[in-house]
Amino acid sequence: MEPIKSAGHSIYFESGLSPLKDILEKNKYSKVFVFADTNTAELCIPVFRSLLDDIEDFDIIETDSGEENKNIDFCIGIWKTLLDFGADRKCLMINLGGGVITDMGGFVASTYKRGIDFINIPTTLLSQVDASVGGKTGIDIDHVKNMVGTFSLPQAVFIENTFLTTLSKREMLSGFAEMIKHGLIVDAAYYIALWKLKMR
Ligand SMILES: NC(=O)c1ccc[n+]([C@@H]2O[C@H](COP(=O)([O-])OP(=O)(O)OC[C@H]3O[C@@H](n4cnc5c(N)ncnc54)[C@H](O)[C@@H]3O)[C@@H](O)[C@H]2O)c1
Repeated sequence: MEPIKSAGHSIYFESGLSPLKDILEKNKYSKVFVFADTNTAELCIPVFRSLLDDIEDFDIIETDSGEENKNIDFCIGIWKTLLDFGADRKCLMINLGGGVITDMGGFVASTYKRGIDFINIPTTLLSQVDASVGGKTGIDIDHVKNMVGTFSLPQAVFIENTFLTTLSKREMLSGFAEMIKHGLIVDAAYYIALWKLKMR
């Protein structure tokens, strides 16, 4: 499928991550970081490596999974880790995870040294159909959702269905519910197509 061009960046579908190699080559990043949570570090980084077998070295920044960790304390931890790794303005952050990782990773990247490049590789259905696209980043304050954030576009978004094979039924349904919501709000034909899909 052809990539969708959206506000200055591309969303690639089932590309096997091959355009990512071109982006890395073209931009000559000083360092590449992969930001993941405990689950995506275990389940998705091996898939990421297998798709990009010749990727040059990257460092992994891992955080606890869950919405309760999408907060400023974890951001401070990530900013300090970037500093410890010697990350400068020319480094890249690849957010590999669900909406918590793409929201918080995007926020950390868009504010670290006044903004470094980031790429989203969403690994939940919800983040593929919603959270990873559109450039909204953010974190929660005192459990109030998305209180602080930025509008910052990723360099690119990669939608790869292979990441969904380890996702629980509950998380798949959560993403599917979001798709139904999109259909109900803006696209009747899409909504009907989704129901037909569900009936199969
Ligand atoms: N920025 C936006 O426009 C936007 C839009 C919608 C939602 N959001 C945000 O997205 C977040 C919710 O996203 P979510 O539902 O993806 O939550 P999430 O990131 O917490 O992921 C849900 C769970 O699935 C696990 N997981 C992720 N990928 C996996 C995989 N491939 N296999 C197995 N487990 C995997 C995660 O570790 C986590 O435990 C919320 O914080 C919400 O505010 C943002």
